[in-house]
Parts: sequence; structure tokens; C-alpha cells
Amino acid sequence: MAGLTHPNLVVLTGAGLSAESGVPTFRGVDGLWEGYHIEEVASPEAFRHTPELVHRFYNLRRAALHTVQPNSAHHALVRLEQAWPGSFLHVTQNVDDLNERAGAKKLRHMHGELRKVRCLWCRNVMDWESDLEVTTACPICEKVGKMRPDIVWFGEMPYYIEEITQALETVDVFVCIGTSGVVYPAAGFARQAASKGAKRLIEINLESTDISSHFTERRQGTASVEVPRLVEELLTTT
Ligand code: APR
Repeated sequence: MAGLTHPNLVVLTGAGLSAESGVPTFRGVDGLWEGYHIEEVASPEAFRHTPELVHRFYNLRRAALHTVQPNSAHHALVRLEQAWPGSFLHVTQNVDDLNERAGAKKLRHMHGELRKVRCLWCRNVMDWESDLEVTTACPICEKVGKMRPDIVWFGEMPYYIEEITQALETVDVFVCIGTSGVVYPAAGFARQAASKGAKRLIEINLESTDISSHFTERRQGTASVEVPRLVEELLTTT
């Protein structure tokens, strides 16, 4: 342990965190979009071959952000971030902005953000609210057809890996919420944390996952109930 009074905490979240806010998960019963698996629309190949389809998928998801709100699990994690005495890092695979809207600051979007886009020509990343089309010109370099969602697709390197790896080196408590544990490298974080000596590894999910066996504690239930409960426990017992 890096210090019994101030344990280091890393939280990893996935689509299950935002499910009760109305953001669809990727692999649940609603895991298909117009007959496509996520792997078929979230890849550089898909963007090369059918950019209109890829834009439509992300445009719909970006627009849908206007219809959702953070839930009690997002708010509880912000309370944890603010009150936790040791180091704290919240790594999310989610591309929505519900954690920020709840007030999260120590947050890293390892798979990018729906409200950001990137120009493949000038490489600038910019905030973006409206739809993106194949005909959209980059507002900075004015090149047409080079704009893409700033989302990490299959086969691409997730963001913040160095910082996350460093945090996992000294983590004491690792909490994993609402992820199916099938997409790497995030799916390997629990094992990484355990190998570095994390004493508590806690999973919250509706069901068992591919990575459940790596956790020392498993709490089965909805994030909106289980996360606030866990946060209260952590803050009163640590
Ligand atoms: N509370 C807790 N867990 C839930 C809830 C809920 N209300 N609803 C769903 N879950 C769980 C499901 O049981 C499932 O294990 O959340 C998980 C969601 O899994 P996925 O849809 O696979 O989402 P995620 O693990 O975040 O996907 C990882 O895959 O497609 C890529 O880049 C995308 O970031 C995404 C990555």
C-alpha cells in the first residue's frame, strides 16, 4: 500500500455508468445499431469505406446528448473525487460528457469524446456541437473531407495510456463500473492493478463479466444504486 491513511484510487467506467441516463450500451440487448455491431462502424476502415454511415452513427449519438442527464452514479463519483484523501483518477471509456456535467475534473476520456472532432489534415482537435458530414470543412485549415469524430476506434491507440499505466503502478483501490471487459487495454487494467499490489479490486455490474474473476469484491446491481452506496462506504471507512 502506498500509505494506509491516503490510499490511491483508480476508477474505470464503461457504458453501464450512463445506461440509466438513457445512453445506450454497446453490447447489451440494444447492442446493435441498424443491424451493425459497434466494431463495424467504429473503425478507421469503416470511416474509409463508408464515412457517411460512420458520421451518421456519431451525429446521432452527439445529438442524443441533449436528451440525457447525469444520474446518481455520476454524481456520487464526483463526490468521491472531491472527498477522497489520496490520489484519484477516473478513467472512462465513455464518450459522453455526463461525468463533466456532474462536475468531474480528474477525468480522462481514454476513448475520446463525442463533443470533440479532429481534422486529419491539420491535426487540430476542436469542440463540436453540430453534425459532421463528409462535406464539412475544417474551420482552421479549411480542408474539406478531413474531419472525423475525436473517438478512438478499434485498432487505434487509446488516449492517456502513459498516465493511466502510471496510476495503476501505485493504485491501492481499483473500482470498475459498468464495463463488459471485452475491449483492451481497459479490460486488462484490473489484472494490471492486482499485479502491482492493489489490495481492493471492486467490480460493479449488472452481471458477471469476462473479467469478474480478477476482482476481490463484486457488487451486482445497477450503477445508480451501487455506486452511491460504495462511495459512502469508501468515504466512511477509508
Ligand atoms: N449498471 C451497471 N452495469 C450496467 C448497467 C447498469 N445500469 N447497464 C449495463 N451494465 C453493464 C452491462 O452488464 C455490461 O457489462 O455495462 C456493461 C456495458 O458493456 P459494453 O456495452 O460492452 O460497454 P463498454 O464495456 O463500456 O464498452 C467498451 O467498447 O465499443 C467500444 O469504445 C467502445 O468504450 C466502448 C468499449
